[in-house]
Amino acid sequence: MNREQKYRRLEQASPEEMSALRKKVEDSGWRQTYHIQPITGLLNDPNGFAYFAGEYHLFYQWFPLGTYHGLKYWYHTASKDLVFWRNAGIAIEPRDPHDWYGAYSGSGIVKDGKLHLMYTGNTRDRDWNRRSFQCMAVMDAAGAVTKLPEPLIDHVPEGYTEHFRDPKVWKDPDLYRCVIGAQREDATGTAVMYESSDLLNWRFAGEIKTGLKHFGYMWECPDYFELDGQGVLLFCPQGIEPQGDRFRNVYQSGYLVGKPLNRETLDFEHGAFHELDRGFDFYAPQTMEDDQGRRILVAWMGQAEIGYPTDSHGWAHCLTLPRTLELRDGKLVQQPVRELEKLRRERREVQDTLTNEKKSYAGVSGTAFELICEFADVNAESVGIEFRAGETERTVIHYDFERQILTFDRSEAGERINSKYGSTRSCRVQTKSLKLHLFVDTSSVECFINDGEEVFTSRIFPHPDSTGIRFFANNGSAGLKVAKWDLAQAVNDMEGNE
Ligand code: FRU
Repeated sequence: MNREQKYRRLEQASPEEMSALRKKVEDSGWRQTYHIQPITGLLNDPNGFAYFAGEYHLFYQWFPLGTYHGLKYWYHTASKDLVFWRNAGIAIEPRDPHDWYGAYSGSGIVKDGKLHLMYTGNTRDRDWNRRSFQCMAVMDAAGAVTKLPEPLIDHVPEGYTEHFRDPKVWKDPDLYRCVIGAQREDATGTAVMYESSDLLNWRFAGEIKTGLKHFGYMWECPDYFELDGQGVLLFCPQGIEPQGDRFRNVYQSGYLVGKPLNRETLDFEHGAFHELDRGFDFYAPQTMEDDQGRRILVAWMGQAEIGYPTDSHGWAHCLTLPRTLELRDGKLVQQPVRELEKLRRERREVQDTLTNEKKSYAGVSGTAFELICEFADVNAESVGIEFRAGETERTVIHYDFERQILTFDRSEAGERINSKYGSTRSCRVQTKSLKLHLFVDTSSVECFINDGEEVFTSRIFPHPDSTGIRFFANNGSAGLKVAKWDLAQAVNDMEGNE
């Protein structure tokens, strides 16, 4: 595909092309029922996540015309409750001198009754080299967006390359601050800071001084916030080699917890880098603090450079469910926001003891459901669950009490996704009982382990008839308690549905 084809603008597509594309998407059997997904084309990073004018606003990176990373727009969705979202149309179009090659990721902050969206404008110079500008668009309470004509930051600080993007802004009592993903001239990744008193004029403050000097070649989508008096730096390092069960995906996303960032020296004393999610499809998370003081995270449920089965259906990817973040023993714990309970419809319950067996229960099945399952009083060697199961398909979560390893296995989940990156993910979980909290949608699963100690987020592409759910205990017995709800439809696939 040549450059012109790849970076086509929306208006270059004929009405016939658009209706054929929409038809393809409508016919896709893998459309989600309660996750934010693109009406056509490719979705990637969540952007501009903020609470403003009585609603949560969540934007995402969008290429409307195909399932590859073409020209990026910001698409706008809004919700009163983080559950039912309305599609509000394009918010930022890449058509100006500082963003014509893509309106890249950024964040939102409310000031003077307006939502300020700071983002990276991507362009090319005469020799087709990348240029990065940090730009601003302002949205009023009616949803009208106006771009500022000039970038706020029009050059890369000295010592860094043009890989300089994804500003995340926040307000401290004294100043606005923002952290931006960067690459040093020696091709190592890092995050840099800027400061401003008015959100418009920004001063380079320096690089955040972490203990990670050679940790990948680029850090994308950094985010900094404080929880319980601790500093948390989230970022997505690219170019990290796998280490045992860790860092198995194309690109990683994780965090450091430490003492609050020293605003004068930019020293950040921190502990180990932890991955945020242990599944296959999770990247570019962004957080916001809502009016109830909760720190809420949303991420892209996808990875770059991988083909997905929906590519041939004219759409790719979705966002994760919103999750609250808390700190427990120096690690982030993630829980689905409680508002998601609104989706619950018919409830089924099971209480049983499993002894060397695999069992299913009447009415406990489905393609879009929430399920909480607890294994207690265990003397079995391992326990687990199979779901979206049919004769030949199943997605499996397995916990080995002796090795204390939890494994997510999508090797038989349905249509294959890039097997180069393997088909199982594992991590260590120390526990004597096991609680699995699953949100399964038509083509995804988010599994919260032991109240969010670890999370596995993954796309799966099973046959619509694979609706079975089975529970098992091997070499011994285990008490089993299950609650399962069918979930209501919560996405709106229409453009501009107010
Ligand atoms: C992360 C990312 C960002 C960039 C955006 C472009 O997935 O590469 O660094 O701003 O996607 O769509």
